[in-house]
Amino acid sequence: MCWQHRFPMIKFERLYLEETESTNDIAKEKGKKGKDFLAVMARMQTKGRGRMGRSFSSRKDNGLYMSLLFPMPENTCVPVIAALAVREVIASYSRQKTVIKWPNDILIHTREGYRKICGILCEAFVRDGKSFAICGIGVNLKDDFPEELKEIATCLSAHTDKAISAEQLGEEICLAFSSYLEKEIRMDEYQKHLVNLNRRVSAVQAGQQIEGVCVGLNEKGELLVQAEEKEILVIHAGDVAVYDI
Ligand code: BTN
Repeated sequence: MCWQHRFPMIKFERLYLEETESTNDIAKEKGKKGKDFLAVMARMQTKGRGRMGRSFSSRKDNGLYMSLLFPMPENTCVPVIAALAVREVIASYSRQKTVIKWPNDILIHTREGYRKICGILCEAFVRDGKSFAICGIGVNLKDDFPEELKEIATCLSAHTDKAISAEQLGEEICLAFSSYLEKEIRMDEYQKHLVNLNRRVSAVQAGQQIEGVCVGLNEKGELLVQAEEKEILVIHAGDVAVYDI
């Protein structure tokens, strides 16, 4: 890990829970009551949430389930910071290539191609006219997955020789996050790790099917896709499939 991460100014207060419905909800509740910087970690979640209204499997001690609360930074795309910080920490555990799938899934290379190892859910709320962000991070540490995830997900323990503790991983992510929140956002750094780049992608946006080659991101962190008809389309949100990874 690079030296800037060792002494960040931003400090997240910690809250460790045995069990909760969703750490994102606890972070929001505490934020609404006046906390500014908080990391909530739980050993299990009973209603873990993913993007696009999906659920997130959160069995006891099978993963890191953590939410970070902080004031919304200006001119910064929170999902970009989140993906950069978490990717960097996961990559430090393994020699396998670790990449970002837009907007902020983290995938790791396996014998069967890239598999999802971590999902991030960014949410926001307003307290007294001030915006706050919540980044919910779910890293698969062990392989106790429900049947439907076995083909698409993998876990950190399968890709490292290092000892893994959810608490330690959480600490490292807090540190990396603090550091990324303090520095200027680097879209080129994000793009360097983006598995979508220069690959064929497909997505559905506003009911329209989009197919083309991903050519990068704009300054808002939106995905740029070159469609067949030479037009560049902008994808704001949603799910993007990447071919041949
Ligand atoms: C995704 O893959 O769609 C995002 C998954 C985010 C899961 C994390 S686990 C901690 C936090 N609490 C939640 O309910 N969700 C996030």
